[in-house]
Amino acid sequence: MAVQITPSILNADFANLQREISRVPGADMIHVDVMDNHFVPNLTIGLPVVESLKRISPHPLDIHLMIEDADRWAPGYAEAGAASVTFHVEATRAPVRLAREIRHLNARASLGLRPATPIEPYADLLGEFDMILLMTVEPGFGGQAFLDVVLPKIARTRSLIRAADASVAIQVDGGVSVETIERCAAAGADVFVAGSAVYTADDPDAMVAELRALAEAACHEVATVS
Ligand code: DX5
Ligand code: ZN
Repeated sequence: MAVQITPSILNADFANLQREISRVPGADMIHVDVMDNHFVPNLTIGLPVVESLKRISPHPLDIHLMIEDADRWAPGYAEAGAASVTFHVEATRAPVRLAREIRHLNARASLGLRPATPIEPYADLLGEFDMILLMTVEPGFGGQAFLDVVLPKIARTRSLIRAADASVAIQVDGGVSVETIERCAAAGADVFVAGSAVYTADDPDAMVAELRALAEAACHEVATVS
């Protein structure tokens, strides 16, 4: 699957989101972190802002819901025109039903897992999703250090997807940078969120290109070896 770089606007200037999005023309999608101060100890933006972003963003929106009761709230983001909606398995009562509802609304459905949540209980459900988001920090804040302990889970998730003969992307989110992206790609990730790495760079779009080149090279190495 092709590498995708999805900059997170969490650490961008919230007073100038249109300008911030225009600084990353090379992005594949814009990653939008929705937090409710319950599922995570932080509060960001919700549906009205996502609806406004949809009007101005030249890129598809990749919505990451870090909210309780995703069953109730996630479909609204698909209705708002998000290309992809990630809800957390820890915050959902009926993940299959919700994924089908999101897909029915013409968005891609993605399942998010905190670092300590195992993938194995969901092995038989993988085909219901377009993407699995594996958090590589505890969700809630940008700028945290990458958790190497998640790398084996990335590899196990890729193996389970291969065994299921399914076409499912693996997104990593948290602490992804030029220091860590190759490890993620080598383990089997193909969609990469990068927040502070992109928005603290002097040239955010050049950083997107650099991250992409590193990930593609690491994926290629794995493909050549295996
Ligand atoms: C954290 C969010 C991330 C965050 C990543 O809970 O889900 O998307 O923006 O930021 P960095 O790349 O700085 O770790
Ligand atoms: Zn995120």
